[in-house]
Amino acid sequence: MHLRRYEPDDAARVLDIHRRPEIIRWLGDPPHVPMSDLAEALEWIEERRRREARDPLDVTRAIVADGTDTVAGSVSVARAHRRNGEFVGEYEVGWHLHPDSTGRGLATEAARILLDHVFDHDLPEVWCGMFVGNEPSRRVAERLGLPFVGVRPDPWYEGDSRLYRVTRDEWRAARTTE
Ligand SMILES: CC(C)(COP(=O)(O)OP(=O)(O)OC[C@H]1O[C@@H](n2cnc3c(N)ncnc32)[C@H](O)[C@@H]1OP(=O)(O)O)[C@@H](O)C(=O)NCCC(=O)NCCS
Repeated sequence: MHLRRYEPDDAARVLDIHRRPEIIRWLGDPPHVPMSDLAEALEWIEERRRREARDPLDVTRAIVADGTDTVAGSVSVARAHRRNGEFVGEYEVGWHLHPDSTGRGLATEAARILLDHVFDHDLPEVWCGMFVGNEPSRRVAERLGLPFVGVRPDPWYEGDSRLYRVTRDEWRAARTTE
């Protein structure tokens, strides 16, 4: 498995992932409007590139499984904006896969690589949250060994979430004992 930047040629696959209500319902606030055309997918790719150009720690990567050219899904460490739009220095790790690419450990492995990357570039801590009931995502966070904070009103999205937070030192200590 490797990670790479999204390219405009990935737009069809990006659309095929984000047109699915069963995926996008977990990714942000309602209304969960599925992506509907390639222009939107291209804009999604361009927006990720703009974000990284503005802030090198705001990173989205395509996950590509060994032996394929197909994008399995995405992993990101992104700026987390409070509900009033304010950014107070928090970053969150997130993941989503096309349904044809789940059940193989790709999201977990991809998140490990990206967390290594951002902590190597001096991010002090990363948050992770998933809406209550998102069991597959909970299992990814637990497999990664992220310290559990609790079920709380989500600081960044509407509703209650299971929140995790890991510092650079905690992550590095856990990685060296793996
Ligand atoms: C969340 C999501 C990415 C999890 O996908 P996933 O395939 O379960 O996660 P991984 O890629 O880490 O794979 C782990 C699964 O593969 C299995 N697996 C197989 N080989 C594996 C390996 N080598 N290493 C680790 N796990 C492996 C694991 O047992 C696990 O299955 P289980 O949870 O049923 O035990 C996926 O369900 C999804 O995209 N959901 C919709 C979007 C979403 O909710 N995103 C998160 C928002 S917070």
